[in-house]
Amino acid sequence: MGVFDLTGRKALVTGGARGLGAEMARALARAGAAVMIGDVLEEQGRRTAEELTASGATAGFVALDVTDDDSWAQAVAATVTDLGGLDILINNAGVEISALLVDLEPKDVRLMLDVNILGVALGLKHGFRAMRPTGAAGQGGAIINVSSVAATIAFPGIGGYSATKSAVDRLTRVAAMESGKLGYGVRVNCIYPGLVANQMGMQLAQDMVSLGLWPSVESAVGDVIGLTPLGRLGEQDEMADAVVFLASDAAKFITGVGLPVDGGMGM
Ligand SMILES: NC(=O)c1ccc[n+]([C@@H]2O[C@H](COP(=O)([O-])OP(=O)(O)OC[C@H]3O[C@@H](n4cnc5c(N)ncnc54)[C@H](O)[C@@H]3O)[C@@H](O)[C@H]2O)c1
Repeated sequence: MGVFDLTGRKALVTGGARGLGAEMARALARAGAAVMIGDVLEEQGRRTAEELTASGATAGFVALDVTDDDSWAQAVAATVTDLGGLDILINNAGVEISALLVDLEPKDVRLMLDVNILGVALGLKHGFRAMRPTGAAGQGGAIINVSSVAATIAFPGIGGYSATKSAVDRLTRVAAMESGKLGYGVRVNCIYPGLVANQMGMQLAQDMVSLGLWPSVESAVGDVIGLTPLGRLGEQDEMADAVVFLASDAAKFITGVGLPVDGGMGM
């Protein structure tokens, strides 16, 4: 078995119904893992899980609102029961609402704080409880949190979002420290994806125009590319491959790091 092989591992991917999370679920399944998709988008989540099953993977869907403690307890318990364990947790669910700081809407900021920070923190709580030696799964494993290049650069119009993604970075490091000190056997890392031309990424580019920061989507995207040494936007599968790497034994001495997957934009 190669060090990247995940055969026999059991994974839960939050926000896995669509976008980066769905691509991460596909990549984990291709590497051999059984995958549970947790999302508030039930219909789309079930469809993505069915697509995985049709491709020959072991996969399922569980309703999960990452902002809700009870929802986490139920989703993790269902994952452990249905898949027969939990070795990999991908805290991917996230929301982005652009605004200039002078126009911040408290309800929008609170939603981002809730989903992007509390959602990840509760994922760490319930992931640790299940994966540590005394837990229902009990085998240790790997947790990968999805931060953003927005945590590593200053970009206008995304102050609230950037703050939440910086918090994910710090949470990751404290979690890795607690897990190590308390013998949970769980590695905790995060990735900082660069801009991807999917639904969220293109909405962000459109928002930059609506906020008056760029004259057109093309010029906003062009400037992001100009700031990126590899000279292009990221692809969803490139974020997913980084997650597979961090989940695998190829990364077994790596914990508490943030891995930029951004073509060099954040360096
Ligand atoms: N798209 C990009 O360019 C980009 C860049 C950097 C980081 N990211 C991060 O990657 C992650 C995935 O983003 P994406 O581009 O796939 O966006 P997306 O909007 O397509 O997917 C986000 C998923 O999270 C789910 N979600 C939202 N709130 C939830 C909740 N309370 N409970 C459970 N699930 C919830 C959504 O239903 C959706 O399936 C996010 O954390 C995002 O911040 C995205």
